[in-house]
Amino acid sequence: MTSLQAAKRTHYCGEFREEHIGQTVVAKGWLHRRRDLGGIVFFDLRDRSGILQIRINPGDVPDDVYEQLHAMRSEFVLAVSGELTRRPEGTENPKLPTGNVEIVAHEVEVLSPSKPLPFQIDEYSHVSEDIRLRYRYLDLRREEIQKNFLMRHRMYQATRGYLANNGFVEFETPILTKATPEGARDFIVPSRLDPGKFYALPQSPQLFKQLLMVSGFERYFQIARCFRDEDLRANRQPEFTQIDLEMSFVTVEDIIETMEGLVAHLWKECLGVDVPLPMARMSYAEAILRYGSDKPDLRFGLEIEDLTDIMKSKGCNFQVFNKLVKEGGVVRALCVPGKASEFSNMQLRPDSKFSQQVTRETGIRAYAWFKVNEAGELESSISKFFDPEPLAEICKRMNGKPGDIIFLVANEKAATAAEHLGRLRLLLGREMGLIDEGLWRFVWIVDFPAFEWNEDEKRWDPLHHPFTNVNEEDLALFGTDKQGEVRSLAYDLALNGEEIGGGSIRIHRSDVQEKVFSAIGIGEEEAQEKFGFLLEALQFGAPPHGGIAFGFDRMVMLMTGTDSIRDVIAFPKTQTGYCPLTAAPSSVPERSLKELKIKSTMKKKEEEEKDKE
Ligand code: AMO
Repeated sequence: MTSLQAAKRTHYCGEFREEHIGQTVVAKGWLHRRRDLGGIVFFDLRDRSGILQIRINPGDVPDDVYEQLHAMRSEFVLAVSGELTRRPEGTENPKLPTGNVEIVAHEVEVLSPSKPLPFQIDEYSHVSEDIRLRYRYLDLRREEIQKNFLMRHRMYQATRGYLANNGFVEFETPILTKATPEGARDFIVPSRLDPGKFYALPQSPQLFKQLLMVSGFERYFQIARCFRDEDLRANRQPEFTQIDLEMSFVTVEDIIETMEGLVAHLWKECLGVDVPLPMARMSYAEAILRYGSDKPDLRFGLEIEDLTDIMKSKGCNFQVFNKLVKEGGVVRALCVPGKASEFSNMQLRPDSKFSQQVTRETGIRAYAWFKVNEAGELESSISKFFDPEPLAEICKRMNGKPGDIIFLVANEKAATAAEHLGRLRLLLGREMGLIDEGLWRFVWIVDFPAFEWNEDEKRWDPLHHPFTNVNEEDLALFGTDKQGEVRSLAYDLALNGEEIGGGSIRIHRSDVQEKVFSAIGIGEEEAQEKFGFLLEALQFGAPPHGGIAFGFDRMVMLMTGTDSIRDVIAFPKTQTGYCPLTAAPSSVPERSLKELKIKSTMKKKEEEEKDKE
């Protein structure tokens, strides 16, 4: 074979068009598919740009090359040269942008062979995720998944473009660092030079970006890797990427306005979508009450109503509800319009699969439903426990029409009732096809409570992190029984039911910082030990500042329409934090542990087990 290895490609496979007909061309790529038609061999050659048909007529290529064609299998890397021609009439492929042309090959050379594949590149759907991740480099050859990474690439470029044009300075901050205050578990790295001491991987660059404001950089950004040892879900990975930002001398309004500009720019650049500005805003309390979530999906209605006042004033003989309301609990409901006929009573029974899916995680037990009959009255197996008056009022409050169905829950805790109905709302929205997948519904959630009560530990925890500033008017509530009502200057951005970003104005006054620490039970010594360097820096002329971080992977996930964050991370971990490709995490040689002066109790246990045997 003559060597095509050194020959320059004239075009990428997906670029060939009719205007190139008659040219002598060179293409390189992977053998995607082959067909043999009575002596003529067809190859689909694939590179990142697309697929091109190669026709190899016997006699057009040297005999020895023709002989070798039969050994060329899927995913061999080939170089081809020949003449670009129009495909014979009737053989065009309108599905391919290159479908009107083909290379009639004069030379074909194998640049690299391929072993038989563990799965066919275009038959991924039948392949388990474990196998796909084990051979991720092959999985990443698929056009569908390559599209995700080209989108991710556009996102990086658009982010950098917008932020650099708006005065933000790009930084990198340490990966080997000290624990950061985002509230998850840290990944820790032992120090060899200082045995017994550990670095923590950053859960976010939070403290460093605040320090950069003290340094006077005014506007910071970083496309930052963050590490959190937490339970994984479809939208969470142990290492993930943030667009992390911080700004000095700003108010909440300034930050929201600048960030709306960034998000609108990203959607325009990456998807060609115009996001209407300003975006919607909603208080945390309203989001929880009406949508049962602090990241409401606003692509559909099905809003939750509170019925506690009706139950309180009118009462009923349904003891479970009555008792809960008397003891300070809540009754809330949502009305599914015109869908009653789609549900049989069987499906609605609390022991049905449908109901159980919702009750399993929230653990709610006081649960009921009514149908609105033709006369506009509520009907249910429990209607007999109610007087007509409260039933009519519930129906009116819920705007119930004949054929509608009304779900009710009662619980001693408002948050549990809200969460339950929030989940039910999402489930119903999905099951009943109420969600318009083409919509982008952004909403800022504001007026968060600064603290939430941790029942297990019997203490107040910060809802965001402990450097989040609080509403000046609420400072008087610290230490009183109304501490739960203190509002923070934090904001989250939700999109279609996902939290895509969150941030706050920070505390830059040490007296306020002390108040917050003492409110959440962090004593002076602990504060010094954990965050002393930041507290010290705040005493050397810290400008008022605030910022936000967006979940970069989550945004790409939503933009590409995938439902797993793993589809937009090149080498992700499984739900158990395992990397099937590299087999990380793995054990280390005893020698490495010795150097670090670390003894593995697992090892000890194993030895003890062995001794027993
Ligand atoms: P927060 O913890 O809210 O804020 O994180 C910001 C955004 O990061 C995304 N995110 C994740 N994405 C994937 N996997 C995870 N495990 C994961 N955890 C969070 C979410 C979230 O909205 N330092 C603050 C920001 C600030 O105050 O400026 C912070 O990290 O989309």
